[in-house]
Amino acid sequence: MPYPKTFHQRLAGKVAIVTGAGSQGSGVGTGKAIACLFAREGASVCLVDQSRERAGETLAMILEAGGKAFVCEADVTDGDACGRVAAATVEHYGALHVLVNNVGVAGAGSRLENLDEAMWDRTIDVNLKSAFLMSRSAAPHLVAARAGAVVNVSSTAGIRSHGAAAYGSSKAALIALTRELAVMYGRDGVRANVIAPGHIFTPMVESMLDEEAKERRRKIAPLAIEGDAWDVAAAALFLASDEARFISGVCVPVDGGVTEIAALCAFEQMQR
Ligand SMILES: NC(=O)c1ccc[n+]([C@@H]2O[C@H](COP(=O)([O-])OP(=O)(O)OC[C@H]3O[C@@H](n4cnc5c(N)ncnc54)[C@H](O)[C@@H]3O)[C@@H](O)[C@H]2O)c1
Repeated sequence: MPYPKTFHQRLAGKVAIVTGAGSQGSGVGTGKAIACLFAREGASVCLVDQSRERAGETLAMILEAGGKAFVCEADVTDGDACGRVAAATVEHYGALHVLVNNVGVAGAGSRLENLDEAMWDRTIDVNLKSAFLMSRSAAPHLVAARAGAVVNVSSTAGIRSHGAAAYGSSKAALIALTRELAVMYGRDGVRANVIAPGHIFTPMVESMLDEEAKERRRKIAPLAIEGDAWDVAAAALFLASDEARFISGVCVPVDGGVTEIAALCAFEQMQR
């Protein structure tokens, strides 16, 4: 058995689409981190965002570091727009190997009687339907690549209850969609995997939580650290790369170990 070669430029020659490639605020969200890391590892990246300005900031970071990317302004809850994103990517770079469905909105943690129907629909559309629409548009190109990869960004809220019905439901269904893709397209050489980020410090979180809440998030993880967008990007890079060629259909929590603890006993243990 030959010794595995050293991996440099782990996505060299690959073309990737990353949705939600901009970030709220001035920090680095997961889409921005994934796009930057992919470009640094040799991929040519289509930066999809409904905000041209936000995606433009990511583009500037990539170009400054010598990477290759272009911006595609699109709302990925619109099927026609998703078709245009896939077509523009192939037109630009001649192929498509990797699709990252990262777009997502945080759902309100209200009781059902306070959760209106429009909010439910919006959460499902942005967090779930977008992944279906983008995957549908990308599928023929990923199949043509014969070594395609889909990486979806779910949440630990899709595995355990986080008290947000629409968000949790959308993220759980995204994990199920990933499994379906893995089985449906496996024979075409297309892999599909999903990441479940836990308590990640991103601009979205910064705008929602105060210092005390952030400290609680940090302490609840066995590792007692809060993750950041680069932790999610590192997992996405591995799953998108050929290093993961034998991995499909799995959900990878990036959560400091928090999902695997049984709440009460672990909490008591961590007080000692
Ligand atoms: N931050 C966390 O702690 C955390 C935890 C678990 C999961 N996640 C997931 O990670 C993903 C990214 O989170 P983030 O905090 O980096 O996001 P973010 O709020 O910074 O959003 C990234 C980008 O998505 C774009 N976007 C939103 N809706 C869109 C649409 N319909 N079409 C095109 N672009 C759209 C926004 O314009 C924004 O630039 C989400 O799916 C989120 O649910 C985040």
